[in-house]
Amino acid sequence: MDKAKRQLYITALEQIAELLPACADSICAMSSVSAILHSNFPLFYWTGFYRVVAPELLVVGPYQGTPACLEIPFSRGVCGHCASTGKTVIVEDVHQFPGHIACDSRSQSEIVVPVFSADGRLQAVLDIDSTEKSAFDAIDRQYLEKICELLRAKL
Ligand code: SME
Repeated sequence: MDKAKRQLYITALEQIAELLPACADSICAMSSVSAILHSNFPLFYWTGFYRVVAPELLVVGPYQGTPACLEIPFSRGVCGHCASTGKTVIVEDVHQFPGHIACDSRSQSEIVVPVFSADGRLQAVLDIDSTEKSAFDAIDRQYLEKICELLRAKL
């Protein structure tokens, strides 16, 4: 299973690395990344970005999935926790995470990865939700952080 997951990420990384140089701006890049991830991984239920648009405030950006919460302050939810710490967060059971924001009650687990620009400023977070509990692990962290590294050049 780990091998299969790694293979999916290797394929997604190849697709992303090929598309990104042709992306004119950050919206084009984030849209392409969310579409590639969402269409390759059957367990991904919601896949997308929240962008830092004002101090301590995230606003939903390009995503694939059901309609989402529009704004998340840094003080709230898994996304806010990731944005305020600048570190990847894996939540095996969202019902156990204090302050989790339930945009869609079907979500059971999630991973949120910070996205920085080349000069090291936080620009966005990549949020992926699953309807399965414990869908995300160290393999997801490893590859999603790599994908967010690739995005740096476009932010
Ligand atoms: N669950 C997230 C909110 C965003 S949605 O899941 C798309 C959170 O607690 O930050």
